[in-house]
Amino acid sequence: MKFSGPFLFLLLVLFSAFTDRDKPQSKPGVKVVMDGVVTRLYKTYQPQQLDTIQQDFVLSFLTNQEKKILATQYWTFRTNVPVVVSLMRDQAQKVLPFWLKDSGFRKTELIVKNEEYTYEVWQRTYEAGVVSLGINGFDKHRPVYFISVKAQRPGDALRISPIFPAHQTFTTFQKGAFTYHDWSDLTLSEVPESLRGQTLFQTIRGRAREAHLVGAFRRTKFPATTQPDQILLTWSGNPATTQDIQWRTTASVPNGSIKYWQKGSRDTLVKAATLNKMEDRLLQNDRYAHRFTTQLTGLKPGKTYDYQIGSPKGGWSSVASFQTQSTTNEGFSFIWFGDTHKSPVFGEMAQQTLTRHPNIAFYSIAGDLVSTGLHRDEWDELWQYSGTTFQSKPLLPIPGNHDSQDGLGAWMYQQMFSLPHNGPKHPEVPDEQTYAFRYKNALFLMIDATAPIEAQTAWIQQQLAQSKDDWKFMFFHFPPYTFEEDYADIRKAWGPGAHSSTNIT
Ligand SMILES: [Fe+2]
Repeated sequence: MKFSGPFLFLLLVLFSAFTDRDKPQSKPGVKVVMDGVVTRLYKTYQPQQLDTIQQDFVLSFLTNQEKKILATQYWTFRTNVPVVVSLMRDQAQKVLPFWLKDSGFRKTELIVKNEEYTYEVWQRTYEAGVVSLGINGFDKHRPVYFISVKAQRPGDALRISPIFPAHQTFTTFQKGAFTYHDWSDLTLSEVPESLRGQTLFQTIRGRAREAHLVGAFRRTKFPATTQPDQILLTWSGNPATTQDIQWRTTASVPNGSIKYWQKGSRDTLVKAATLNKMEDRLLQNDRYAHRFTTQLTGLKPGKTYDYQIGSPKGGWSSVASFQTQSTTNEGFSFIWFGDTHKSPVFGEMAQQTLTRHPNIAFYSIAGDLVSTGLHRDEWDELWQYSGTTFQSKPLLPIPGNHDSQDGLGAWMYQQMFSLPHNGPKHPEVPDEQTYAFRYKNALFLMIDATAPIEAQTAWIQQQLAQSKDDWKFMFFHFPPYTFEEDYADIRKAWGPGAHSSTNIT
């Protein structure tokens, strides 16, 4: 599966649009309503009851005002002339969106198809003005509905002004068009004559999660406590003189810091950490957690440092240690994993590698660290299974398609890792997901291949051209040579012979 450009941009826009909606002149949006509904559900019902939720139950639980918002504030825009709105709904979605019939949509005989799904077409007319559409459903049906719009009167010049999402992308409704930014290879294979040429609104499959309640609730096996855990080393700066450290506590711990000292020395230094509040709304036993991060600077090359992290309120971790990169000519080694998918087998292997290769410099995981990147319980498993491995050796990862999924980006991944901020300055290439770092005589180009390939090529060329390092490594998640799936775009852009001026080896 390949991913197309604008979806991250769309995501940012979605978030900014949520914020816009919180302003006094706007009504609360779907997110605000769902945050409140979930809070009320937790207060009212036991975990087992939450697992049995169906649409009818949800509707009886919602206030009329909440229902109204969920029926109207998912997708809104303004048109300058009277229009017909066609709504394409995947036939495989068992339960109709609750608001669809009530708001005047009628099912037609028309059918739209792509390679995977068959969509029935629902239609209704609107006068000039605001069109307000409701949620996809309380299930998580990933092929969410999409819409097209045409002017009712053939001579009218149609102008559409998006309201929410604020930055809507459009294309022409026709065979070959794509509907989901996070799956741009999935193109329409069948479009009835009467719909062709209309304005097609594109979306992302991640929108299926916005009102997810049916079969939605999860539990983490490893909830946060006041004691710091998930201690993790990374680098965002020079490995010889800096060290980044991050960890987790429960949300009742408001701050954290690190005490550190050069091994054998009595001079203890203290550095405060920055707090990131993490919320996973559907994680019923641990919705909120705190993630701390800090960077130690001014360290001496080639030295071992001991450290402890914690806070007066949360207690302190046991002493661990790390080593800064030396400036000698000796070689170094590192360990690379791919597709770890928070597996216990990986965790065990990672712990064994440290016993067998205690002198390695660092680890990398080339994407798909977990299977669902915005489910915090999966990260909890990853860190639990890998034990104390990353307390003494840094982990420098890149995201895969499971870490950055459904067009929703990888904000949880970003909060987990403090990494160099030196990637391509491009709106569709997220910070810290593509980056470069140097270790001794080697350059490491860490590439987020779920971001647009073409948006990163110039940066890669530039990094290689300016590097005088003996070794150059490039990590990315999608293999250019594989029997399973063809990544011809990557081969073409980054493979041998791609650019005559730069030899990528
Ligand atoms: Fe993958």
